[in-house]
Amino acid sequence: MKILVIGSGGREHAICWKIASEIKTGALYALPGNGGIGEIANLVNISTNQLQEISSFAKKEKIDLTIVGPELPLANGIVDEFKRKRLKIFGPSQKAAKLESSKVWAKEFMIENGIPTGYFFVADNFNQARIILEKIEFPVVVKFDGLAAGKGVSVATEMGQALSFVEDIFEKHVFSAENNRVIIEQFLSGEELSYLVITDGENYIPLAPARDYKKIYDGDMGPNTGGMGCYSPVSMCSPELESIIEKKIVIPTIRGLQKKSLDYCGIIYFGLMITENGPCVLEYNVRFGDPETEVILPRMSNGLLEVLDAATEKLLNKTSIKWKTESAVDVVIASGGYPGKYETGYPIRGLDYISKDVVIFHAGTKKENDIFITAGGRVLNVVGLGKTIAQARMKAYEKVDTIFFKNMYYRKDIASFPR
Ligand code: GLY
Repeated sequence: MKILVIGSGGREHAICWKIASEIKTGALYALPGNGGIGEIANLVNISTNQLQEISSFAKKEKIDLTIVGPELPLANGIVDEFKRKRLKIFGPSQKAAKLESSKVWAKEFMIENGIPTGYFFVADNFNQARIILEKIEFPVVVKFDGLAAGKGVSVATEMGQALSFVEDIFEKHVFSAENNRVIIEQFLSGEELSYLVITDGENYIPLAPARDYKKIYDGDMGPNTGGMGCYSPVSMCSPELESIIEKKIVIPTIRGLQKKSLDYCGIIYFGLMITENGPCVLEYNVRFGDPETEVILPRMSNGLLEVLDAATEKLLNKTSIKWKTESAVDVVIASGGYPGKYETGYPIRGLDYISKDVVIFHAGTKKENDIFITAGGRVLNVVGLGKTIAQARMKAYEKVDTIFFKNMYYRKDIASFPR
């Protein structure tokens, strides 16, 4: 079998790691991949936004299945491009990817389908946003409508902070030169949960729930990042809670997509807030989470490929996923300065001597002259495995202590109070 994985982060390394252990014959390709992925897959030097070049590559190499990691190629229509060329791909169509690529579209979809979420207002310009902000109770959540690599959300505790974010969007155009819209949304408090399902558009299978840490500093302080750590399982997510999530959120979402005749084969990632009134959707993502995937896949007992293949064949009802009881904790090591400005090109030491209780997934790395060097904001995911979250956490931090590169930064409190 020939498999192509699109993307270059820790998520894609985890997907390649899992698949590499499953394919006996054939080949694994990653486009563009990273230093760590290059150890287990053939790297393809095409950018993820060159959709036609990617599909031509897949056609020429007779790729049996392509798996899309990041949201941008999905939002740009890579699935539609592959389907035009009759190539098999795991991911939703461009129209269905609006669940993630337009926050306004997603909110309206939730309302149409009775899916619990916070109340919200939409503003098309600075003045509209200011008028809404003058009337709404703080704290509020202000969201840029489009994709912004995890940076398009501000939780504002006072007017000045909210206006400054709105000004960034409408006056400074920090995310986009055109199409600027914002959502001003009720702040929901509770416990966050990442709940992912794989769906073929009709059937679905939940993945193991996970909890990620979006803020850069310990104690959930500072700006948002792509994710600084994660753990799974999440004990708060009891079978009763899961059944409420499925009934009130997952099933209405899949039925809502069907009502719109949207072609959805892929992951639906529900970013949830478990409030005192039950689970509410904060956001949808249309792909595997990062760093959620780095703790979910090491806990999966059976093969990933068989499940992805069943989804693309619309046969998900004929398969199932079994989970290991062991826990996984991921500590992300980033370049100092991330999510703001940071430097790259530093050699990374201490990646050898991996015990069976630790897996390292590379994110922003590349290999030069046989040495791994830093090449991005988030650099490494150090995943510890153990019977309990506490044991897995200890394994992860023991390994983190042996790794070094200049200006490295990581949170010290990942999974310290698991819920
Ligand atoms: N963990 C957040 C995300 O994948 O968007």
